[in-house]
Amino acid sequence: MAKEIRYYKLNTGAQIPSLGLGTYAAQRAVVDDTISTAVKIGYRHFDCAAIYGNEKEIGFALKKLLDDDVVKREDLWITSKLWCTDQLPEDVPKALDRTLQDLQLEFVDLYLIHWPVSLKKESIGIPEGLTQPDIPSTWKAMEALYDSGKARAIGVSNFSSKKLGDLLEIARVPPAVNQVECHLSWQQINLHAFCKSKGIHLSGYSPLGSARKKHMLLENPVVNMVAQELGRTPAQVALRWGLQMGHSILPKSTNEGRLKENFDIFEWCIPEVLLAKLSEIKQERVVKGSEFVHETFGAYTTLEELWDE
Ligand code: A2P
Repeated sequence: MAKEIRYYKLNTGAQIPSLGLGTYAAQRAVVDDTISTAVKIGYRHFDCAAIYGNEKEIGFALKKLLDDDVVKREDLWITSKLWCTDQLPEDVPKALDRTLQDLQLEFVDLYLIHWPVSLKKESIGIPEGLTQPDIPSTWKAMEALYDSGKARAIGVSNFSSKKLGDLLEIARVPPAVNQVECHLSWQQINLHAFCKSKGIHLSGYSPLGSARKKHMLLENPVVNMVAQELGRTPAQVALRWGLQMGHSILPKSTNEGRLKENFDIFEWCIPEVLLAKLSEIKQERVVKGSEFVHETFGAYTTLEELWDE
């Protein structure tokens, strides 16, 4: 089944698989099984992050799959992310080393700055720990990881066009990817156009509309109408839309049936006339990042400043 996955070419020349498995909120007790089930179904791309707290369990699963020759390292795409407490330049390589140790890997295929937000290392929490990020110096440390080969591509997550533009002004190595919330009810048309114009690939998280929103997207009448017309499920329509837009998509599931359902999106397509209907769905950001906005602490006093909207 793996041969069906489509790939996108990044500005590094690497090919990122268009479908990846999200691992946010994948519980430690089951994620090990989920990863091996997913690899057997054909998934090759796993989207991880230190803050998800499950990289060790993912590492056990990957090690076993690699040792047992179920899959080769060169066929896997592993992404991880630098958490906000590790943005000081001296902390960046240590954070990646911890992730590599947990994942039992020698390199990640992609390493992202998780948010344009900085937190003090001492565990004083949010909001008191919010502090001013210094993206240029964090990025320099990310570039050193790219030079070392421990991160074969580097990028960012949750960056607006404005923040990407600022980063591009100082970057020696331009970001390969911006990973952001992206789904039928938050289509990111302008951000995607900006990324495309700069050669940055857009990866979409929460492509099913986010569990935080109790799957309202999957109940949307337009999505259901399109699903019915095509004989597909609403989740498949949501994912296939992402592929047709040119995003990589990162649905999370720990359920074997849904892992298979979410993989079955390569051999059919949504016709233009139905795409036009999907483009009319009401838009609303779900992952607002409100926890990073505070009138006293940190860099952003409003959501408009965080997202530059
Ligand atoms: P589960 O792990 O039980 O399958 P998103 O990636 O947009 O945040 O969505 C993830 C959520 O969607 C998870 O709660 C996941 O639950 C659920 N989910 C994953 N695939 C499907 C599907 N095909 N249909 C309905 N819900 C799904």
